[in-house]
Amino acid sequence: MATVKDTIHRVRAYVAAGHASKSGLAVSAGLTANALRGLESAEWNPTAETLSKLEAAISGSTVVDVPQDTALAGKRILLIVAGGIAAYKCLELIRRLRERGAAVRCVLTEAGARFVTPLSLAAISGDKVYQDLFSLTDESEIGHIRLARDADLVLVAPATADILARMAAGIANDLATTALLATDQPVMVAPAMNPRMWEHAATQSNIAALEGRGVSRVGPAAGEMAEADAWGVGRMAEPADILAALEAFFGAGGRLRGRRALVTSGPTIEAIDPVRYIANRSSGKQGHAIAAALARLGADTTLVSGPTEQPDPPGVAVVNIESARDMLAACEAAGPSDIVVCAAAVVDWRVAEAAPRKLKKKDRKQSQTLELVENPDILATLSRAGPGRPRLVVGFAAETESVIDNAIAKRAAKGCDWIVANDVSAGTGTFGGDSNTVHLVSAEEVEDWPTLAKEEVAERLALCIADALEGAP
Ligand code: CTP
Repeated sequence: MATVKDTIHRVRAYVAAGHASKSGLAVSAGLTANALRGLESAEWNPTAETLSKLEAAISGSTVVDVPQDTALAGKRILLIVAGGIAAYKCLELIRRLRERGAAVRCVLTEAGARFVTPLSLAAISGDKVYQDLFSLTDESEIGHIRLARDADLVLVAPATADILARMAAGIANDLATTALLATDQPVMVAPAMNPRMWEHAATQSNIAALEGRGVSRVGPAAGEMAEADAWGVGRMAEPADILAALEAFFGAGGRLRGRRALVTSGPTIEAIDPVRYIANRSSGKQGHAIAAALARLGADTTLVSGPTEQPDPPGVAVVNIESARDMLAACEAAGPSDIVVCAAAVVDWRVAEAAPRKLKKKDRKQSQTLELVENPDILATLSRAGPGRPRLVVGFAAETESVIDNAIAKRAAKGCDWIVANDVSAGTGTFGGDSNTVHLVSAEEVEDWPTLAKEEVAERLALCIADALEGAP
């Protein structure tokens, strides 16, 4: 039974981790105005009744909307948090793992404890945090060997250059590395370090040795580093990507197991000359998220993508292309699929004849005319009836007006089964943004979805696809 002090700590850590404001928590706990004032005052001294309501609100809010069919439900993850600035992302990761029904137990290294407190980890994971190899209480309660083996997977996030080196060398000089050496369970690492440290031959050889022994890896991603002006590969993968990698790992029994999926994503670019091109503002976020979501449900997924800054989704075969014609060729080369989702913003026209050399101003008059010819329509091509037609073909409709009417007409014109219609007018922030408001148009109905994060749109769409294919031959 938690003491009052423990509970106060837990509530404070929950709020400190950004999961709720005190007032937000108070509202969901149904507290009185007086209790709310108490909660917000610096001298916070809640009664036992207030605390138990808050506890109930916390546990209620950490398990919202649990999708029962995720591959993570019931899985036990031993999360080793090493000492990197990215350690703070673990709180979000733990919350999302628990939302999906996984149990998370944390081991915190000495360096890790400089970046994230054991209290926050305990509050978010709802379990004790293990830190000391030589703790008599921990040993009498569980023991480091059982700690290492009572998990379905050991995840090291952030995995610093130091812990990767110790893992590669088999050094066991703290609880984390001892557990890693003692475990007989799969291990996944999410490296996080300065780009130079990542590129260093020592780190590369350590990671290659670990991968050679069956350790799986997610990230690191490219991007800006915590240090000013540092950019490169070394950022820890985002919690959503780590989650996707875990779901792909456990997703072998997923609902789309045995199905093949093909997804197009990003813009295409059409050359004008060797340096100039026609393109569009597509970020690839939505298409990449869909590929990741289908892979999580166990589909054997190929993603054909135009140039984007999105990292390759875990567990997905990625084919990078530039032009619409290359995209079509790559889709055709991918072979037969059960599911096709065309989320790419394909440039509709290309320059009739791209110049082999850079166009020079001096060779031209003041105005310049480009002759454009139409690109192949990939969605319409893949939707064509025939023996090899995919079971389900889904297109997108990027519209700036009469969104639903245009989408209904587009579905019929292209011959696909569903259209995901979205408003991309200026101001909606759909292109390049993180959220999307869509309508799912089928032959029978139009379903309006609320505004959701692009990952959530992807997850929902993947589940609809799984529903549609269930029972299909
Ligand atoms: N699409 C495609 N190949 C093309 C053009 C579009 O595969 N050459 C696909 C897109 O991936 C999307 C759907 O068709 O799934 C609709 O794309 P959209 O840009 O909304 O429509 P367009 O066909 O380009 O028509 P319009 O620009 O006239 O609205």
